[in-house]
Amino acid sequence: MKKNLVFAANWKMNQAPADAGAFMRTFLGQYARQQDRRVLFFPPAVSLHVVVQAIKERADLEAGVQNIHWEDKGAFTGETSGSLARGAGARHVLVGHSERRHVFGETEEETGKKVAAALRAGLTPTICVGETLTQREAGLTIDVVKRQLRAAVSGVDAAVVATTIVAYEPVWAIGTGKNATPQDAGEVHVAIRAELRAIAGERGAAVPILYGGSVNRSNVDALLAADEVSGVLVGGASLDAEQWLAIARSG
Ligand code: PGA
Repeated sequence: MKKNLVFAANWKMNQAPADAGAFMRTFLGQYARQQDRRVLFFPPAVSLHVVVQAIKERADLEAGVQNIHWEDKGAFTGETSGSLARGAGARHVLVGHSERRHVFGETEEETGKKVAAALRAGLTPTICVGETLTQREAGLTIDVVKRQLRAAVSGVDAAVVATTIVAYEPVWAIGTGKNATPQDAGEVHVAIRAELRAIAGERGAAVPILYGGSVNRSNVDALLAADEVSGVLVGGASLDAEQWLAIARSG
């Protein structure tokens, strides 16, 4: 049996405060604490307060934001810093999600600055890495993922890397209904684990490595059974409370 599992819901640009409230009432009414896991919620920033309020009595449930700016404060209209998110109750942040990289043009350098900013602010970054279909077909998957990971942690001490979470999300599997086979996912997770050990020594063994990309209630068990898969990061299937309950109880 695996321990210290992480189930993370990435709501992306969905769930206004009223929807988030209704979701959390359904979820909390049915989800009892399980000792072997934590459940994380990444609502849109405008609904963060609703989730934070809903989970305040529950040590097994945590909330985060989907993005931060790398500066701590100042004249950056429209942006949210790590310390602002922390002040609003976030404990986590997604960094380098493929939509940030590919839709908004976030560079590896920016991802690295955001990881450092998150740690400065006391947030746990979930560092997202993953290859495009072209890169996979060219046999570049492991190289790309390692390079993205190295760039993301280039500005922080090796010891601190041990306090992060990593998510492997193949770009071609996100929101497409296609997912990596458990074997494909396992191969990449094993490579990520080796890289984490190379960066942080034995402490790299403790970093949860989540799989993400079209995870749902039907495929989650097989993915969780794959080598070095310590949890899942779920988009679409986390928007429905019943389905999210089924996923959060699996494994
Ligand atoms: P998906 O998204 O589960 O809808 O594929 C995963 C993610 O982008 O984190």
